[in-house]
Amino acid sequence: MRSLFIAGNWKMNPGTAEAAVALAEAVKSGVGAAADVRVAVCPPSVYLHRVDQVLEGSPIGLGGQNMYWKTEGAYTGELSGAMLVDAGCTHVILGHSERRHGMGETDAQVNAKLHSAFGVQLIPIVCIGETQDERAAGQTEDVLQGQLVGSLAGLSPEQMAGVVLAYEPVWAIGTGLTATPEQAQDAHAFIRAWLSNEFGAATAARVVVQYGGSVKPDNAGDLLARPDIDGALVGGASLKAADFLGIITAARSVAAKGKD
Ligand code: 13P
Repeated sequence: MRSLFIAGNWKMNPGTAEAAVALAEAVKSGVGAAADVRVAVCPPSVYLHRVDQVLEGSPIGLGGQNMYWKTEGAYTGELSGAMLVDAGCTHVILGHSERRHGMGETDAQVNAKLHSAFGVQLIPIVCIGETQDERAAGQTEDVLQGQLVGSLAGLSPEQMAGVVLAYEPVWAIGTGLTATPEQAQDAHAFIRAWLSNEFGAATAARVVVQYGGSVKPDNAGDLLARPDIDGALVGGASLKAADFLGIITAARSVAAKGKD
């Protein structure tokens, strides 16, 4: 059985280290020691050290929001996976749509970063998802398949089992529009079927696939109850401790009750 995994992607927020520390402290005290649901926060990299200190003694994971595939050298502005580990990270988000669409990141680059993340034992959270136009044109599955093929090339089944995927429809990110639980489940089932085909059913059954896109405390329970939705990658609602904790509470209640 896959554990539910709720991760907060703080993106380029909050504006100060003090505010980041306060948010991390509130999340830490709300989550407590229970590990029935996996939780991680992904702050901007300049806050990682400080947030890592706050999270000491807590089961909450710490993630970077991006990394470079090279291990060291003359790459101004980039961060290596080893640097993220040194700052306390356990996870790293790769291929977020804001990087794919806003900054031109390609599947091949995501794939290079993924292999580099494995080299330093970071747990990768690899994001995929279609735009509004692609969905309207009936291309959702083709787009997802292309991103899966390109981003996950060259992985062994054992490596694949250690990847977290995040299905984030671009049209649902930061828009207040959420995929319906049915739309999200359909996409997740497609992803799981693709994984099964490529890596075998046993591996596919182990891969955690999060949903992301306007997840809030009041819609999280319905999404997380679906059989192939194994967690959430939360943007805006992860910046308010009460909202993020509300999503974790919803996940805990799904974990306690079991799936639909
Ligand atoms: P929102 O929850 O703000 O829609 O963002 C989702 C997201 O991009 C998480 O990575």
